[in-house]
Amino acid sequence: MKSFYVTTPIYYVNDEPHLGHIYTTIAADVLARHQRMSGRDVFFLTGVDEHGQKVEQAAESRGVSPIELANMVVKRYRDLWPRFSISNDDFIRTTEDRHKKAVAEMWRRLDAAGAIYKGFYEDWYCVPCETYWTGTQLKDAEAWESKACPDCGRAVDQVKEESYFFRLGDYQEQLLAHIREHPDFIGPDSRRNEVLRFVEGGLRDLSISRTTFSWGISVPDDPKHVVYVWIDALTNYLTAAGFPDENMPHWPADIHLIGKDILRFHAVYWPCMLMAAGLPLPKRVFAHGWWTVEGKKMSKSKGNALKPDELLEQYDADVIRYFLLREVPFGHDGDFSFAAMKQRYNSELANDFGNLLNRSLSMLYKYRQGVLGISGNEEACDRALVADVEAMQRGVEEALEHQAFHDALEHINAVVRHGNRYVEENAPWSLAKTGDNERLDTVLYHLVETLRLVAIQISPFMPRKSEAMLEQILNEPFKTENISMRKHSGWGLLAVGHVCAKPSPVFPRMD
Ligand code: MSP
Repeated sequence: MKSFYVTTPIYYVNDEPHLGHIYTTIAADVLARHQRMSGRDVFFLTGVDEHGQKVEQAAESRGVSPIELANMVVKRYRDLWPRFSISNDDFIRTTEDRHKKAVAEMWRRLDAAGAIYKGFYEDWYCVPCETYWTGTQLKDAEAWESKACPDCGRAVDQVKEESYFFRLGDYQEQLLAHIREHPDFIGPDSRRNEVLRFVEGGLRDLSISRTTFSWGISVPDDPKHVVYVWIDALTNYLTAAGFPDENMPHWPADIHLIGKDILRFHAVYWPCMLMAAGLPLPKRVFAHGWWTVEGKKMSKSKGNALKPDELLEQYDADVIRYFLLREVPFGHDGDFSFAAMKQRYNSELANDFGNLLNRSLSMLYKYRQGVLGISGNEEACDRALVADVEAMQRGVEEALEHQAFHDALEHINAVVRHGNRYVEENAPWSLAKTGDNERLDTVLYHLVETLRLVAIQISPFMPRKSEAMLEQILNEPFKTENISMRKHSGWGLLAVGHVCAKPSPVFPRMD
C-alpha cells in the first residue's frame, strides 16, 4: 500500500486554540480521510510546539512553570480534535523523549556534515514571532527608528550572545535547483515565486542556539546552549516518522500544510537542514492564507481571536469544516463572518443538499414504500446525471491532488444542483399520477444512487453528516471511516428491492 504522510504545524502552547489552528487541522484531516478512502496507508500528524522563549515567558506571566502551561494547553488541543472529527494518527509533543532524541541526532548529523560552527550572535529578536532580524532588515522595513518587528510591529530586543550557526548559505544553490526542478515542491505557485525570490536574494547563516534562557532541548555536548526553537520544532515531522530509525516507511512526508507566515521556515530552513543531514525532502509544502474575523485581524491583545467553543455553540462541527474550506480558495486570505456562514449553510446545505436528500427519500416512501425498483431504460437525462456523478468523482480527486478544497466542493455541489434540476425535469409526482411506474423507479433509483455517491465524496469534508446521509440511504449503521473507493464508488451498487430509511433532516434550515 502506498503511504501518505500529511502534517499540520505544531501549535505553540503559549495560547489557546483559535480559528487559525482549526483551519489547517481540518484541511489536513480532509486530505487524510480522502487518501484513506482511496486505499492509501495514511499517517496524519498534528501536535504542539512546547519549547522556546515565548512559551517560557507566557508561563512566567501566568505564574506557572512552562511544562505546567504546556500540559494545560495540550489538554485543550487533545479535547478539541475529536469534537471536530480530526482523525490524526499521532499527536506529537516536543517535550517527549522520542523527540529530544531525534533533535539531538539531527544536531549531530548537521555537525558531522560540517554544517554547524560556533560564533557570536548580534541581532534583533522578536520574542512573540520567535524571529531574528538584522539591522538591515529593520532599516528596509523602516523599523529602525521604532525598533519594531517588521512582521508584527511589536518591540524587538537586541541580543549579543555566543551561538551556534547553521551554514544555510552553503545550501542556497542546491535549494534553488530543487525548487526549480520540482514545481510542486511549494504551493500555491505565488508562494513558490516568493520563496525563489527570497533564496535568490542570498541566504545568511542561521543562528541555531541560545544561551539566554533554558526552556528547550540542550545542544549535545554543550548544555549551556538550547537548540533554537525552529530547529527543534521542524524536526517533529521526522520524530513522528520514527527518526533516527533507518526504517521510516512514512518519510518523506507527502505534504506539510502550513500558514503563509511560516513558509520560510518550511520551504527554506527545513529543506536545507534535511539536505545537510542527508535526508529526503518532503514532497510538498502548501501555505494557506489567513483569516480575519468580521473584517478584523485576530489578535491576542484585542481579544478577538475566534475560539472553537464560540463556533461550536452555534454550528455543527461538520458545517464549520464545510464553511472554512468552501468560503475561501485554499491559499487565499479570507474573512470569517457568522452571517456568511449562515448564508452558505442555508443556500448550499439546507436548500440544495438537504432538499435533494429529503425530497428523494420522501418520494421513494410516498410512491414506492421506500423500496428501490429496477432502473430501466436510461434516457438522455439519466445518462447526463450519471456522467456528471462520474465527472464529480474525477473532479474531486484532481482538485484534492493540489489542495483545491473549494473546487472539490464545487464539483460536489454541481451534482447536487443537477440532482435537484433532474427532480424538476422528471417530476416524479406526475409519473406517479399517470402510473408510469417503470419510469418512476428509474428516476428514483438515479436520485438515490446519486445521493449515495455524493455522500461518499462529501465524507472527507463532513464525516458525520455524510454518515447521517448514508445511514438513511443504506438503512443501517454506517461509519464513513469504512468507505473504500474501490468497493463503494461504482454506479449502480444499490440493489433492486433495497429499502431506504425514512428521511429525517440532516441540514435543517436556520432562521
Ligand atoms: N509553532 C509554530 C509552528 C511550528 S511547525 C514546525 C507556530 N505555531 S502557531 O501556533 O503560532 O501557529 C500555527 C499556525 O496557525 C500557523 O500555520 C499560522 O499560519 C496559523 N494561524 C495563526 N493565525 C491564523 C489566522 N488568523 N488565519 C489562519 N491561520 C492562522 O507558528
